[in-house]
Amino acid sequence: MSGFRPESQPLVTPVSVSHEQNSAVTAPVGPYLSEALISLDNLRHNLACIRAITGPQCRIMGIVKANAYGHGAAQVTATLEEEGVRDFGVANIHEAIELLQEHRMQPDSRLLAFASPLAEHIGLYMQHGVEMTVCDHETVRSAQAIAAADGGRLRVQVKVDTGMGRLGVTPEEAAGLLELIDASPNLELTGIYTHFAESHIPEGFTASQRERFLGVTSAYEERTGKTVTKHASNSGAIISMSDARFDMVRPGILLYGCHPVDAAPSPVDVRPVMQFQCRVIFVKDVPAGASVSYSRTWSAPATTRIATISAGYADGFHRTLSNRTRICIGGKSFRQVGTVTMDQTMIELGSDDSVKVGDTAVLFGWDGPSAGEQAIAAGTISYELLCSVSRRVKRIFV
Ligand SMILES: Cc1ncc(COP(=O)(O)O)c(C=O)c1O
Repeated sequence: MSGFRPESQPLVTPVSVSHEQNSAVTAPVGPYLSEALISLDNLRHNLACIRAITGPQCRIMGIVKANAYGHGAAQVTATLEEEGVRDFGVANIHEAIELLQEHRMQPDSRLLAFASPLAEHIGLYMQHGVEMTVCDHETVRSAQAIAAADGGRLRVQVKVDTGMGRLGVTPEEAAGLLELIDASPNLELTGIYTHFAESHIPEGFTASQRERFLGVTSAYEERTGKTVTKHASNSGAIISMSDARFDMVRPGILLYGCHPVDAAPSPVDVRPVMQFQCRVIFVKDVPAGASVSYSRTWSAPATTRIATISAGYADGFHRTLSNRTRICIGGKSFRQVGTVTMDQTMIELGSDDSVKVGDTAVLFGWDGPSAGEQAIAAGTISYELLCSVSRRVKRIFV
C-alpha cells in the first residue's frame, strides 16, 4: 500500500469535477494519425465461415465484449444483427449498458453479461433487460428478492466451472443452484454454460470438461423434464470439437479474423476485420553509429534512412515489439528499430527513397503483418493486441 489515499476523500465517493463541453470546437478530421479500418464485410465473411462449420441449427452468440475486441461493439453488433445473429455476450453489466446506449438492439436480441454480478448491480440487469450470469446461491436469492420487489422477471444463466477455474458453480453444487432458480418465481433460467481452459486441444482435459458439463445439464433435464439452452464452445472449440457445439457457440476471436492459436495454421479461411495503421510524419538520413530512441537500444550500422511513424504504445503498438518486428509502408516490409515510444515509432528504410511523409504505415491488417504475427513478436496473443488498440485510434468502418 502506498498510503497516498487523500485523507479528505472517503474511498467510494466520486468527486465531481466541473468542466464544460465546448461545442465551438469541432471534431478532428482526417487524415488521422492513427486509425483502425474495420471491414464489416470481412466480419460478415467470418460469420459465414463459422456458420459453415456449425450448421444452421446451432445459434451463434457474437462475443462483443471489450468493445468487440477493440473493433466497436455497436457497429459489430448491428452488422451481426443484420446477418441474423440474435445472441450477444459482453463482459459485465456496464459494458452491456454502454452497448445498449450506443445501439438500439433488435427487439428479439438477447444480451448476456458473463461476470458474476455484484449485489448492487442486480437491479441494473432488470432495468436494462440484460441476462445475468449466476454462480452461487446468494446471488440467486438476492436476484429473486429484487425481481419480486420490481414485479418483473429476470433472465439468468448458470455458469458451471468444469475446469476453467475462473467463475462458476462446481458441477457438484450445480443441481442445488438450478433447483433454487426453478423455485424462484421471478427468475427464468435461459441457459447453462461453461468455458474451456484449453479449447484448441479437444482431447484430455477439454474432453473431461465437456463430460462434466453434460453431466450437469443431462441430470437437470432428466430431473425436470425441461430442456435448457446449453453452450460451451469458444473459437478454439468451434474449430476443434464438433461434439461440443450444443445449442449455441460463442465465437470471439474467429469473428475478428484471427485463429485462436497464433502460431498454428488456421483451418478456417477467416479474414482480418481490423487494419491498424498510422502515418509517416518524418523522414531523415542518419549516419553510421547514430542512435535512435529512448535508452539507445539501436544504432545505425551504416548510413540509413529512418521514418518516424505516428503511433506508439499509447495507440496500442506494444513497447515489447521494440526492435523485434516489421511494418509495411507502400506494400514494402521494413524493420522497426529503436524503442517504441508513447506516440511514435521509428522504422529503418535503408536506402529506400520511395517512402514520403504522409504515407500510410500498416502495423497489422490485410496490407501488413497479421495481428497474430505481431502478437508472436510481442510475446502475447492476438486477443491482447486487438483489445489494446486504444481510444485515441480513430475507428473507420469500411
Ligand atoms: C465466456 C466466454 N465465452 C466466449 C469467449 C470467446 O472466446 P474466443 O475469443 O476465444 O472465441 C470468451 C472470451 O474470452 C469468454 O470469456
